[in-house]
Amino acid sequence: MGKRCCSVALAMVMVMGLVSLTLATSRRSMMTNGLGMTPPMGWNSWNHFSCTIDEKMIKETADALVSTGLSKLGYVYVNIDDCWAEISRDDKGNLVPKKATFPSGIKALADYVHSKGLKLGIYGDAGYYTCSKRMPGSLGFEERDAKTFASWGIDYLKYDNCHTDGSKPIERYPVMTRALRKAGRPIFFSVCEWGDMHPAEWGALVGNSWRTTSDITDTWESMISKADHNEIYAEYARPGGWNDPDMLEVGNGGMTKDEYIVHFSLWAISKAPLLLGCDIRNMTEETMEIVANKEVIAVNQDPYGIQAKKVRMQGDEEIWAGPLSGNRIAVVLLNRGPVRYSITALWEDLGLAPNSAVEARNLWEHKTLETRFVGNLTATVNSHSCKMFVLKPIA
Ligand code: GLA
Repeated sequence: MGKRCCSVALAMVMVMGLVSLTLATSRRSMMTNGLGMTPPMGWNSWNHFSCTIDEKMIKETADALVSTGLSKLGYVYVNIDDCWAEISRDDKGNLVPKKATFPSGIKALADYVHSKGLKLGIYGDAGYYTCSKRMPGSLGFEERDAKTFASWGIDYLKYDNCHTDGSKPIERYPVMTRALRKAGRPIFFSVCEWGDMHPAEWGALVGNSWRTTSDITDTWESMISKADHNEIYAEYARPGGWNDPDMLEVGNGGMTKDEYIVHFSLWAISKAPLLLGCDIRNMTEETMEIVANKEVIAVNQDPYGIQAKKVRMQGDEEIWAGPLSGNRIAVVLLNRGPVRYSITALWEDLGLAPNSAVEARNLWEHKTLETRFVGNLTATVNSHSCKMFVLKPIA
């Protein structure tokens, strides 16, 4: 009897093992590129330049990523967004770089960017045209375009969702996933479906990141609403597949310094792609100070890859927190309101034992606080501002 019960239990364990093995295998069979083990970092042309792009500006941006030291901090993707191609394919059906703005072609640009130790990203669409309607989409041309991108040396593809045939994204996007896999070059696949059909639920099978939101604009309201919306899907983020609340606006001028600090802190703690969206060639010291904060970047790039969640909301006061490697916890105390508040993070909300003593590092002041905290941590936070800490329990 006892033996039988154990063998039944063992069989169940084996079946469960098989099920998870099958799941793992099917998961692996879609996205095998091994990319994005931490959220991607780099730059994208859209937020600042829209369709006004050319190869000279892209090269200068690559140069600036290196000369500012940003590439050393991890910002390595140089991503060209919409409007880089001619409206018509060539007579063989290939995409053609726009002669007026990219006369040397994309391969030459990739070679240049690679020579700087950086990676080149490009933009396409899972429909007949891209969103600007100024260049073709890849619907029906997935294999051809994936091969073209691979032959040029492309490292990252942002794949948009405009002007489609009306079929479901969950059917259209995997066609490009398979095409990229066959193309023979590891290409980070950024699914830009805007969150319409809950891509967090299927994105990990298809791509390395998935937009959870509509387009960001350079305002506090837009930025904070993208962060809110993206937070809903926190559980789906993991190494190799990230929720994407859209690209950064830091440095574009529409928010205050404190608001941009909130923007960068929330993106970092949310394990969002850190894709700069300003003009890297003309950054102010203030912008540089924000986007080059190594300690905040380290939270984003933590190997565990666990997206933070709102662990408490009280009116305009919020606590965002998530575990980091090394038994540490990242915390953002956020004030969304019009006046200064004193905000308290309780250990019970952070998953800490009530009596554990904790060392707190303030990531924007670059200071480890002298106080040892037990039970809670309180800080005053100005309007539309945040404080960001890494907490470490003391043995
Ligand atoms: C969509 C995307 C944006 C940008 C534009 C380009 O709106 O969501 O991020 O790529 O298209 O046209």
